[in-house]
Amino acid sequence: MRLDIVTIFPEYFAPLDISLLGKARRTGLLDVRVHDLRDWTHDRHRTVDDTPYGGGPGMVMKPDPWGEALDALVPRSDNPTPSSGPPSDDSASTDKTPPGGAPPGGGASASETFTGGVSPGGAVSGRGAPPSSGASASEMFTGGVSPGGAVSGRGAPPGGGGSPGDGASAGEMASGRVPRLIIPTPSGRPFTQADAVRYAAEPWLVFACGRYEGIDSRVAEEARTRMPVDEVSLGDFVLAGGEVAVLVMVEAIGRLLPGVLGNADSVTDDSFAPGAMESLLEGPVYTKPPVWRERPVPDILLSGHHGAIARWRRDEALRRTVRHRPELLSRLAPEVLDEHDRAVLREAGFPVDGEDMAD
Ligand code: ADE
Repeated sequence: MRLDIVTIFPEYFAPLDISLLGKARRTGLLDVRVHDLRDWTHDRHRTVDDTPYGGGPGMVMKPDPWGEALDALVPRSDNPTPSSGPPSDDSASTDKTPPGGAPPGGGASASETFTGGVSPGGAVSGRGAPPSSGASASEMFTGGVSPGGAVSGRGAPPGGGGSPGDGASAGEMASGRVPRLIIPTPSGRPFTQADAVRYAAEPWLVFACGRYEGIDSRVAEEARTRMPVDEVSLGDFVLAGGEVAVLVMVEAIGRLLPGVLGNADSVTDDSFAPGAMESLLEGPVYTKPPVWRERPVPDILLSGHHGAIARWRRDEALRRTVRHRPELLSRLAPEVLDEHDRAVLREAGFPVDGEDMAD
């Protein structure tokens, strides 16, 4: 999977070199390319923001650098050869990030095109196919890892931003010629585990990190004419910018790629995991020793009865969800609850009968 991240703070992404995701990058499962938005500015100060029309506090990110960045990363179908990077009159510093010139597979496999990471100083040592790779649109995505297979036929999630349809066909997305653009913003729709699962099956994502009061709205509007665009929020709070939100999403998505986690089963037991855990929080977990500070591990977990353990885990998940996130339970279709589930919920004080669930 290829991820392009456009930001004015490339150094924010140094953590992507460590732990699971760092390993996934080194083994070629994940091809992350971080780009400095300022490389697409043309003035001496490398300006990316301006005052908001209509007045008000704060600054808004200018559309021009964003438009040029997206043009460079995502070739237009009427101009299939992507630009080779920022224009030569750009007054960037020496540690600037030359934008990756071609989409995945532009003359090299995903694993070949990225060999480095973000240095603490802000430089990005590894990057995409070299500028002027000269690949044609049809050649541009031939390789890379497409976990979970192609995305064609996957519909947009309820309330979700575009799947194929926002100016891109399912074929264009599945082939990797067109990425999904993800813009983190507190005004977006909530980012969920279901989104992480859906994104993990796509070959190419581009993240646009806004700062200040956000990005001029015409950028998303124009991008939508040629690629799917999702504006997503991590929650009902406001961050200083999209960088941390992108780190969170990249981790949520990256850990789902086949081969990234040691034990593939562990993702199916996660809170919110599609399937049995959808809309449920994972219950408590324990490890050795069996008794710690006079607190024993629940007997059932030492019993070796896998069926009984699975039932106990589900009961605990139901109880914890009632306690911490009762609103999630109202999303559960009544038929996914068996009689035992209902009894546990009732006992935990959650109304389960008839219409009560949706209230
Ligand atoms: N940028 C600023 N706040 C954000 C939030 N809550 N979610 C995603 N992106 C953001």
